[in-house]
Amino acid sequence: MPNLTSKEFELLRDYIEKECGIDLDRDKAYLIESRLSGILAESGLSSFEELYYKLRIQKDIKMNEKVIDAITTHETLWFRDKTPWQILEKVLLPTYIDEIRQNKRSKVRIWSAGCSTGQEAYSTVMSIDSYLERHRIKDVSLDHFEILATDISHSVLEIARAGKYDSISIMRGLADEYKDKYFANEGRKWILTKKIRDRVIFKRFNLQNSFITLGKFDIVFCRYVLIYFSTQLKKEVFQKISEILNPPKGVLFLGNSEVFTDYEDSFVRMEHQGGVYYMVKESGV
Ligand SMILES: C[S@@+](CC[C@H](N)C(=O)[O-])C[C@H]1O[C@@H](n2cnc3c(N)ncnc32)[C@H](O)[C@@H]1O
Repeated sequence: MPNLTSKEFELLRDYIEKECGIDLDRDKAYLIESRLSGILAESGLSSFEELYYKLRIQKDIKMNEKVIDAITTHETLWFRDKTPWQILEKVLLPTYIDEIRQNKRSKVRIWSAGCSTGQEAYSTVMSIDSYLERHRIKDVSLDHFEILATDISHSVLEIARAGKYDSISIMRGLADEYKDKYFANEGRKWILTKKIRDRVIFKRFNLQNSFITLGKFDIVFCRYVLIYFSTQLKKEVFQKISEILNPPKGVLFLGNSEVFTDYEDSFVRMEHQGGVYYMVKESGV
């Protein structure tokens, strides 16, 4: 396999940053080398420079998709960190349900931004469905909740849309109670029930783009995505999230190990039983 030269590293690093915002230092050259070498082999390319040529000069769209799929990190699991769903059930859902009953709102809109293979979005739907059932709520249903899930990577969106998981992914974070209730076993795969699958709309979306076309949201999950971006891009994404969250109570969830400084202009940091969330401020407050 050809080695990645410094010039090739710089060309591909800049290309990757421009295409998906991922900011790779020189000490991450091994990542480009290891993740893209499979593409070289399968495409019969003899160097990383040739790959760059296909991407930049020939503007090969299929190659662009392959590179994005390979360079993005898709690690995810069911109910990752647990606290966002505890906050959803203990703090947010009771308020939304009251507001729906009082005709103060007709819908709750939720966005899983950087959804990977769908676990975050589907965990949210399962959590809402089981909450409504546990509390014997009949006048509010899943129809009141709209869940959008987006990612830049085509390959993860395909898995997410199918709602089919292998036995390793199904075990990661999913309680037996949820597995038994919401999944059917088909050979080596576990298939999510249609009722939950149909609730999520999956779309390809690059977080570097404008968010205006997506509409307004009550909850945004943007977890373990921004860690790969430059400080400047992170700042821009936080700003865009603050603009599409419904004031005064729109909520942002980050990953539990992610640190968000400089949030005070747009968000109030909230805590609930060890979990953290950020509530958008009314503009100008
Ligand atoms: C580590 S996963 C996190 C998945 C999920 N949010 C979670 O916390 O379990 C990060 C996801 O962000 C996506 N991603 C990376 N850069 C992106 C961009 N510029 N726009 C949209 N999605 C992006 C990746 O493809 C990947 O699926």
